[in-house]
Amino acid sequence: MVMKKIKKLVVGNWKMNPTSLSEAKTIATTVKRGLRNIKKTQVVLCPPYVYLSGLSHMPTTILFLGAQNAFHEPSGSYTGEISFSQLHQFKTGFVIIGHSERRAVGETDEVINKKVRSVIDEGMTAILCVGEKIHDVHGDYLALVRQQIITGLRDVSKKMLDHVVIAYEPVWAIGAKDAMAPADVHEMSIYIKKVLKDIFGVLADSIRVIYGGAVTEFNAKDIIADGFLHGFLVGRDSLKPKSFLEIIKVVEGK
Ligand code: PGA
Repeated sequence: MVMKKIKKLVVGNWKMNPTSLSEAKTIATTVKRGLRNIKKTQVVLCPPYVYLSGLSHMPTTILFLGAQNAFHEPSGSYTGEISFSQLHQFKTGFVIIGHSERRAVGETDEVINKKVRSVIDEGMTAILCVGEKIHDVHGDYLALVRQQIITGLRDVSKKMLDHVVIAYEPVWAIGAKDAMAPADVHEMSIYIKKVLKDIFGVLADSIRVIYGGAVTEFNAKDIIADGFLHGFLVGRDSLKPKSFLEIIKVVEGK
């Protein structure tokens, strides 16, 4: 199978960290400085909303800002919510949608689909997170991941597929000590590619597939060695610039 030449991708999901804007600026500036020789990989930093404004001068052609979530309506009486159009003014280019920590507080595949479409309508890229809670021996997780993708991408126009990234994150590996075994990530990346081909045909090649869950500078190389992965979604280690930059170098050199 020939993969279309598209940029690789490393996304840092900072979650509810760090505790101040000045720390956020230090992390982002250190990462930015370390990207001097990076040409083939896009790097996305996803800080908490409240730091987006303070970091909105950061984006370059390689470094992007992302958000961790948003609400699908453009405006209105939705106390506590933030719309995708509001995010866009801070040069936010990507939004993580359907992270397992959002699914855990009640986000359904249907809500996630509305959000994916709103992100794309706003001209940003949706990073749709999918993944099973249990990697059972019967393979039930395959149907679950398939369904998450089918519903999450329902009514997404084939013309907009370069605005879609699938982040495969087995829930049990997120925040865990060890990542999924490289051979299993390889198998899942092939499976996800197949599901995308079933839905979108050859145009599915524009969709990037990345892996997340306990990625470190030490395991990144083995995980990305095989399979159809375009990069990683990194949690904890995205807050440590040195480690994060090492992961980016692995992806760049693949
Ligand atoms: P982790 O988190 O890298 O800390 O396991 C990944 C994620 O939640 O996206």
